[in-house]
Amino acid sequence: MTLSSRISGFHKLSTEEKVEKLKELVNLTDDEAKLLLANDAPVQIENIIGVMTVPIGMATNFTINGKDRFITFAVEEASVVAAASNAARMARPHGGFFTSNTGPFMIGQIQVLDVQLPSFASQEILSKKEEILKLANEQDPILVKFGGGASDVETRIISTPTGDMLIVHLIVNCLDAMGANAVNTMVEACAPMIEKITGGTVRLRIISNLADRRIIRARAVFDKDLLGGIEVVEAIVEAWAFAEGDPYRAATHNKGIMNAISAITLATANDWRAIEAGAHAYAAKDGYYHSLTTYEITEEGNLAGTIELPLALGTIGGATKIHPIAQVCLKIMEIQNAIDLAEIVASAGLAQNLAALRALTSEGIQAGHMKLHAKNLAASAGAVGEELELVAKKMVEEGKVRMDRAEEILKELRG
Ligand code: MEV
Repeated sequence: MTLSSRISGFHKLSTEEKVEKLKELVNLTDDEAKLLLANDAPVQIENIIGVMTVPIGMATNFTINGKDRFITFAVEEASVVAAASNAARMARPHGGFFTSNTGPFMIGQIQVLDVQLPSFASQEILSKKEEILKLANEQDPILVKFGGGASDVETRIISTPTGDMLIVHLIVNCLDAMGANAVNTMVEACAPMIEKITGGTVRLRIISNLADRRIIRARAVFDKDLLGGIEVVEAIVEAWAFAEGDPYRAATHNKGIMNAISAITLATANDWRAIEAGAHAYAAKDGYYHSLTTYEITEEGNLAGTIELPLALGTIGGATKIHPIAQVCLKIMEIQNAIDLAEIVASAGLAQNLAALRALTSEGIQAGHMKLHAKNLAASAGAVGEELELVAKKMVEEGKVRMDRAEEILKELRG
């Protein structure tokens, strides 16, 4: 019989009952069910049937704005944390990473349709800015009390496949919150007022993930000698130029950056989809998709790197506040506020990118990957303790990083 995905009343079952049901429906074994139920869900979503665990690795060697920091990454890819730590080490002789930001402003969008005189209506909205801001800020007195809240109103007239539209932007200082709840509540509350002013019909009222008023910048100088000499420095600049000139390469280049950025975002239970969307939209903001980093060569031949991207990260509210592991990660990183977190994240993104470019321009990415992959294979083959290192090392030396070889070596080791 083919499986039907229609299960009446599934949402009413407890997690254990849901998993019990899955045993019947997809033949889950007792062991598989146990795995799903091994951890309690740290936050609630609908229809929970288990918890997915991901390792947390801690990157070392980072100095950011003159202060040493540990950085926690939640990521399944083996070579990410070591690579970031290694790149951070190469920035240490030149003071590490330095950052700046535009402040934590988010944009809420209101889509206004059927406006007879869009330019005229646009000016009417701007002339009623104070009233709109007042109404928006009434929605979140706590944010306002701490110095945040809606601070500006902007309008745009855009051409779309279904005709021109008037788009109203509400700019909100979100302080230490990611801001989606605050902003969405505000734009929903302002919608009737916008309809009244414009005579149009408001449809969508939602935050924009192209958070280009919440830009974080980080820069660092990476040491020529630690990188491997001026040839490596020049090769890295050429590798970056490749990403600047080619969206196929830029996507992979930026993916490497997101290896760090999304991993720290996840470790703090922030919304990594929002961060990813913002980063890639920002990378395409000039009409073509390019790198989020830049590289130049200093007079001494060192490598000067920069990164700039939107980072809508929060340290209060949402899952970050509830998730006990996110709280531990914030403590390990000694996070002061959302901007502090974002500046760490941007620095790590730059380090991650540098590490990838250095590897790609010299030994290639597989050497490092294979070492760690070998360890994972050794573990899957049943190696424990010292065996892990021994099995992995032998496979790498032989150039045979494969499951069957891991099993053979383990057998040999155990006599
Ligand atoms: C792999 O996860 C990331 C890289 O592909 C990034 C890059 O190519 O720059 C190594």
